[in-house]
Amino acid sequence: MENEVLSIVDKRTGKTYEIPITNGTIRAMDLRKIKTGPDDFGLMTYDPAFMNTASCQSAITFIDGDKGILRYRGYPIDQLAEKCSFLEVAYLVLTGELPTAAQLKDFVTHITYHTMLHETTKHFLEGFRYNAHPMGMFISTVAALSTVYPEAKNVHDPEVRKLQIYRLIGKVPTIAAYTYRHSLGFPYVYPDNDLSYAENFLNMLWKMVEPKYQANPALARALDILFILHADHEQNCSANAMRAVGSSQADPFVSVAAAAAALSGPLHGGANEEVLKMLDEIGSKENIPAYIERVKAGQVKLMGFGHRIYKNYDPRARIIKQAADQVFEVTGKNPKLEIALELERIALQDEYFIKRKLYPNVDFYSGIIYQAMGFKPEIFTVLFAIPRTAGWLAQWQEMLCDPEQKIARPRQIFTGHDVRDFVPIEKRGVREFPAAA
Ligand code: ACO
Repeated sequence: MENEVLSIVDKRTGKTYEIPITNGTIRAMDLRKIKTGPDDFGLMTYDPAFMNTASCQSAITFIDGDKGILRYRGYPIDQLAEKCSFLEVAYLVLTGELPTAAQLKDFVTHITYHTMLHETTKHFLEGFRYNAHPMGMFISTVAALSTVYPEAKNVHDPEVRKLQIYRLIGKVPTIAAYTYRHSLGFPYVYPDNDLSYAENFLNMLWKMVEPKYQANPALARALDILFILHADHEQNCSANAMRAVGSSQADPFVSVAAAAAALSGPLHGGANEEVLKMLDEIGSKENIPAYIERVKAGQVKLMGFGHRIYKNYDPRARIIKQAADQVFEVTGKNPKLEIALELERIALQDEYFIKRKLYPNVDFYSGIIYQAMGFKPEIFTVLFAIPRTAGWLAQWQEMLCDPEQKIARPRQIFTGHDVRDFVPIEKRGVREFPAAA
């Protein structure tokens, strides 16, 4: 595919330009030389919401949205979900290769070593209101870690980076669990380093007065699988936030906090919480057709449906559906599953969804499992943020090590006023505070 060229004729000047095509892509900077004269800035592309712009070269995650394929570092997601632990996958996503047994042991030891939070960070968490949303607490507390580890700003030192990666992956479950305990008014539980990553998380969430918490192995494994499915997803809104904020050489704690903030929105990771609210609102199967009509009328969105990249079944949703069966064997069925399955069945037969290629995404079923496992919907997005931290850090590290990357700084097409003279306050007309400007 090398040596492919795009010929562009600029009808304004009659000039022809030869633009190289690599990997089905032209470089936007090659368009800059297309000018009408020496004072012309040169041609730009306009791409709101990055619908057709590659912002980086990445070797981490491959998605074929039409075929419903997802691979981390070349390995199909279903194989990883079946055969790996989450930390094994985190190692793969971060380093590019699956670990040997010795490398995995070493990695797990490092992560386990960094699960504790500084006591002042624990006190910081205690300052939140009793009804603070766990995601808001999570974002703020991850950002607050930046004050505890000031050396983290040395982002170009690989050893410093590695230490922050251990810290972040080690500490996000602790922060997540503390946000949940805080919202329930329960005392925080310290990490138990005898336990696996998922078991320890469950321990910090659910341990009460028993001397040693024993996680149900089926639930711990299901959680680990969910973590694997959420580890990375290439250049989505939060990965893009991670790269954009990290590109200013901000430290990884505030960059992960920014990425988590992006994740919290209902169109991204916040959708899993919204799906449960939607299923509650629908209430029973008989109400589904009326709800679908409201979706088609543009009054509401079918949360957990649709994806910028997948125009086919999200492969993660398929694996989650299988994991759900294992969870329900332990917990009993979540009655919302029936509504969700029927909603999916009706939607997938409806012309509105068929025409727009809208399929269930990862968030459609994850919340139903989380709820069956005992989680409240407010923590669903935090459960997403824990494993995605590995992906964000992999994206961040790749960005920092890429010699082509610089501070992320898009251009704009200015549509505002041309220059105008200042108007003194007494001469200004009365205008309502604009809702949008
Ligand atoms: N319900 C109803 N209609 C939808 C939905 C939906 N969930 N998603 C997309 N559409 C419609 C749009 O209205 C649009 O219709 P139109 O062509 O008549 O205007 C068409 O499908 C294309 O949708 P866009 O919004 O242009 O697609 P985009 O790629 O910008 O958005 C997104 C993708 C944000 C995920 C969207 O599908 C959505 O809002 N889904 C619901 C929220 C959700 O589940 N988010 C989680 C995504 S997965 C993740 O981030 C982890």
